[in-house]
Amino acid sequence: MKLQGKVALVTGGGRGIGRGIALALAAEGADVAIVETDVVDNPYNQYGTRQINGYQAAQNVVKEIQAMGRRAIAIQADVTKWDQVQAMVQKTVKEFGRIDISVHNAGVINVTPVEEMSEEAYDLVMDVNVKGVFLCCKAVIPQMKKQGGGKIINTASIGGKNAFPTLAHYCASKFAVVGFTNGLAKELAKDNITVNAICPGIVRTAMWDLLADAWKQPGETVEQSWQRHLETLIPQGRAQTPADMGALAVFFATNDNVTGQAFNIDGGVELH
Ligand SMILES: NC(=O)c1ccc[n+]([C@@H]2O[C@H](COP(=O)([O-])OP(=O)(O)OC[C@H]3O[C@@H](n4cnc5c(N)ncnc54)[C@H](O)[C@@H]3O)[C@@H](O)[C@H]2O)c1
Repeated sequence: MKLQGKVALVTGGGRGIGRGIALALAAEGADVAIVETDVVDNPYNQYGTRQINGYQAAQNVVKEIQAMGRRAIAIQADVTKWDQVQAMVQKTVKEFGRIDISVHNAGVINVTPVEEMSEEAYDLVMDVNVKGVFLCCKAVIPQMKKQGGGKIINTASIGGKNAFPTLAHYCASKFAVVGFTNGLAKELAKDNITVNAICPGIVRTAMWDLLADAWKQPGETVEQSWQRHLETLIPQGRAQTPADMGALAVFFATNDNVTGQAFNIDGGVELH
């Protein structure tokens, strides 16, 4: 096992891609803190509600990881709130003594043309996807410096390299994550802290349930829309999985000389 004795933190680790990353890190021996929240301020997310029940979902992932023989805890924190993000780092260090790998994966989406986009819809996407990544990085850097190094992994998207209509704000947020990741990597290069981003293609999670529904053509079911998008957007014609993203997280977590990268797992969509 490559991560025996290491401690990881994963935001948005209760479901979807974050869960896949948490399980992959645990399978390599890491103890894991799963960071999630049950309630958010703003309903413009893929769940369409303020009551998103992420912390509840995190309890199940904790059990799955404990069943693998690792230690795991669930922490309730909204990544857009500085006090909660600081507490998230403190609780993880109190429980496990350190943080070697910090995965900033919590993210939200809503679908709307810019002309009809409300400020609330725009603000939530920017708050969670960009400010959330910034706050989590800011909070974990002092701990990693104290330990003499660490691995920061942010979740961006193929939408962070090539944008999609009705997702201008979401894609802008993911372009921001790619740029932030590269800038921070250079800033921390001499501190033995690497900073990289995962760019997923299409993974069937709550996020894609929303997209397949919002992008249906007249007469199409959600399943038909999903299938059409796989075939038209992904050269390989098949979906990527949370386990794929977990494998990339393990790669970043175990390589000291890879930093500043935003790597796609997308079935061949992007050139870079
Ligand atoms: N699904 C895809 O195809 C895809 C593609 C590219 C990028 N992504 C990115 O992957 C990441 C994970 O998304 P997913 O597809 O697994 O969706 P998901 O809805 O399954 O997971 C997102 C998780 O983030 C949590 N979350 C939301 N707001 C939060 C907040 N303020 N504080 C703490 N936690 C919060 C949710 O509770 C949820 O469990 C996101 O950053 C997303 O933008 C997904």
